[in-house]
Amino acid sequence: MVKYLVIIGVCLLTPPVWAKEKTVSMEELKLHNTSASCWILIEKSVYDVTEYITVHDSLRYDIRKWCGTDSTRAYSKKDQSGKTHSKKADLLLRKYKIGFYQLD
Ligand code: HEM
Repeated sequence: MVKYLVIIGVCLLTPPVWAKEKTVSMEELKLHNTSASCWILIEKSVYDVTEYITVHDSLRYDIRKWCGTDSTRAYSKKDQSGKTHSKKADLLLRKYKIGFYQLD
């Protein structure tokens, strides 16, 4: 019985995944083009990677120039290196998703 109450409690307290995701336009994306607030678009999703910038610095590549932009190509090719990000990087990226991109 207690087990079921705990499960119901967790379900009520945990917001659904889609609740924290919003729709972002190019206009709004472009506003977040600094290291103080860095959003990037990859495919159809928008990520707030502000907190990840300094971590990526330690990988000896500065991602600041991609803040506020469609970084799909840059991310998939590690800029111009032609290499792809690892599965680990793709999983990590999911953590920073804040919404979906919507055409203006
Ligand atoms: C925005 C455009 C981005 C570009 C152009 C870019 C480019 C690069 C480059 C050049 C490296 C170092 C070279 C190498 O390890 O092969 C690297 C490594 C890495 N990046 Fe990015 N990166 C971007 C965004 C991100 C984001 C948003 C994440 C995760 C949230 C991420 C996660 C990683 C990880 C984990 C590595 C270590 C190697 C790997 O696992 O593939 N990167 N990236």
